[in-house]
Amino acid sequence: MQAENKPVRALFVGFGNVGQKVAEILFLERERHPNVRSLDLRVVGIVTKSRGSLVNNNGVDVVKALQEIREGGRFSWTNFELTNIKGLDAVRQLDYDVLVELSTLSIAQKGEPALSHVREALNRGKHVVTANKAPAAFAYHELTSLAHDKGVSFLIESTVMDGTPVFNLAKHGLKAASILGVSGVLNSTTNFVLSRMEQGESLEAAVTIAQKEGFAEADPRHDLEGWDASAKITVLANALMGASLTPYDVDRQGITHVSVADAQTAVKAGKHLKLICKAWREGEQVKTKVALEEIERGHPFAPIRESGSILMIETDLLAPFVITETEPTLSDTAFGVINDLMSLGS
Ligand SMILES: NC(=O)c1ccc[n+]([C@@H]2O[C@H](COP(=O)([O-])OP(=O)(O)OC[C@H]3O[C@@H](n4cnc5c(N)ncnc54)[C@H](OP(=O)(O)O)[C@@H]3O)[C@@H](O)[C@H]2O)c1
Repeated sequence: MQAENKPVRALFVGFGNVGQKVAEILFLERERHPNVRSLDLRVVGIVTKSRGSLVNNNGVDVVKALQEIREGGRFSWTNFELTNIKGLDAVRQLDYDVLVELSTLSIAQKGEPALSHVREALNRGKHVVTANKAPAAFAYHELTSLAHDKGVSFLIESTVMDGTPVFNLAKHGLKAASILGVSGVLNSTTNFVLSRMEQGESLEAAVTIAQKEGFAEADPRHDLEGWDASAKITVLANALMGASLTPYDVDRQGITHVSVADAQTAVKAGKHLKLICKAWREGEQVKTKVALEEIERGHPFAPIRESGSILMIETDLLAPFVITETEPTLSDTAFGVINDLMSLGS
């Protein structure tokens, strides 16, 4: 969508792990990534919940914003761009081309306020790029048809498997195929915790590491109780299989009941405990499930260790195939967001 010499004006709602990594790649590491240089992004607003918000119609000083939030934990009181604008007001009032929605996953509030941020932006004819699963998990078809009516993009590549191409692969590489089912290991935190428990580490200690690395959800119960996995399998079922489900429709199990002894007993029997997500067709319906399973050592899911993910796709024409993501970092998620920003309008 980027016209010659015309920057893409972006509003960031959420500036935590992912938002800061996107900013770091685009504004601090730009010269190291030749393909990224063609994206000329002007950030006109950055909104957080408790660390202040920055607005500048001519472009926020993103390098300064990064420095302030990393050194002081919030935007500085002396920053002349500082305002107290809230997410929905910024979405409604500011002048931008694309909303980059990177706020926290909310299940109990049924996707809010992210869902309203996205709906409002699309209603205003603005593109949306999001890594937040909630909008697509609670209202995928409403939002995609709204985007279609308004002639804008609603891009969600980083919602599942971070930035690994899943939706782009399906959109461009599976035109002739009908997807019959998807299954895989999609929640990094539980896979990491189960891998560490096999080695004798406690669940609590492993979660603390996942939080430090930045891949655990802000509320780790979303990971441990299977909600993040449920949101992901819902997004896949809605986007790839035409379902209209929410995370509450998933037959869901977490890993809070698993002990170190359980994980080690499975290993002694030649198996690995994994939280497996599945979506499959039953007549006209799409069913979804998240459950702890004992995976045999020879199974394609067995070698997925630590924070890795894997997705198997089954179609009517193409033999089942898998997409694997090996120990992703925040850069993977940021990559997906940046790639979506570079794909607006295409
Ligand atoms: N981290 C990953 O590896 C990863 C991978 C794929 C997808 N995701 C998804 O990407 C999103 C961002 O993840 P993250 O790791 O960056 O989360 P995070 O570090 O917890 O950051 C969330 C950001 O959203 C802000 N926020 C929360 N509620 C808000 C509201 N109502 N209005 C405005 N801002 C609000 C927070 O502000 P405060 O700091 O003031 O609270 C913070 O800046 C999440 O939805 C997550 O599920 C993350």
